[in-house]
Amino acid sequence: MIGTDVSVAASLLKEGEVVAIPTETVYGLAANALDTKAVSKIYAAKKRPSFNPLIVHVSDLASAQRYVKNFPPIALKLAEAFWPGPLSILLSKHSSIPDLVTAGLPNVVVRVPKHPITLELLKKIDFPLAAPSANISNTVSPTSAQRVNQNLGERIKYVLDGGASEVGVERAIISAQNNKIVLLREGGISQEQIESILGSKITLNTNAKISSPGQLKKHYATNKKLIVTDNLQKTLSNYNDKRCSALLYETKEVPESVTSYHLSKTYNLPEIANNLFECMHLADEDKSEIIVVEKCKEEGIGRAINDRLRRASW
Ligand code: TXA
Ligand code: MG
Repeated sequence: MIGTDVSVAASLLKEGEVVAIPTETVYGLAANALDTKAVSKIYAAKKRPSFNPLIVHVSDLASAQRYVKNFPPIALKLAEAFWPGPLSILLSKHSSIPDLVTAGLPNVVVRVPKHPITLELLKKIDFPLAAPSANISNTVSPTSAQRVNQNLGERIKYVLDGGASEVGVERAIISAQNNKIVLLREGGISQEQIESILGSKITLNTNAKISSPGQLKKHYATNKKLIVTDNLQKTLSNYNDKRCSALLYETKEVPESVTSYHLSKTYNLPEIANNLFECMHLADEDKSEIIVVEKCKEEGIGRAINDRLRRASW
């Protein structure tokens, strides 16, 4: 069921149920992070392998500090700059966080989502929420309550509707071990933004050994073949014997037979990020056989978009 009642969502969560929640990045599938039985329902509902850990969502920095062993100064600086907002931080977990949440790993990823409804929800409950993206594993992440309902509606009791997600790609994940920042996943906040707060360069390690689909090659996948290319026109002409859909960044000339979706009309990166998953869903549902999309320039949030495209392509 889809609804906008925060109290209903809070009651279900207190009873140990899973509820889909809006965030500014993508919708999450949430349960009480301190309750192993509730957390196990998340893995079951989204058919997530139990070796893939979940992000812990809290209402503010003070609560985040409760669920980690320590919060190094360099991580505090970033949390103060970007929370609430699209940045997740990997830190040593406090013993109150069950192993199931972190898939047995000693570290937990924490974040403060920037969505008024979810912040209100977090204030109504006295536990943090474990929440991966609200999709069946290895499918495209949802950026609206309707998409969640379509994908998981029969498996969960409530989808808290907070409208369309604002950022539309998942948040960036950094680790802050030994007071040193490493960027593990690019996302709604770019490497450059982090570096400008710290005033120094950070290490990029998106190949970090984390046994997780977000890091695995084939993720965010559409059912149809999705081709990522440097040259849209050329790829479309190579496949002119097939029905194609194209995801476009600007108003480009494409053959009339191609169904086109505008991620943006002016190559606006936040707008592209915001529309990406929904356009992937739409193209997956139309009558075409193949989806073609051009790479973004490798800069800022464009790198996060390219990363999602690469993982979705096959
Ligand atoms: O924006 C987002 O990050 C959304 C919203 C709902 O918060 N969440 C999300 O969750 O995309 P998910 O589970 O689809 O992706 C989270 C990524 C996964 O690749 C997971 O493996 C990694 O974060 N992760 C979570 N906890 C971790 C941990 N303790 N150690 C290493 N990686 C972790
Ligand atoms: Mg996911």
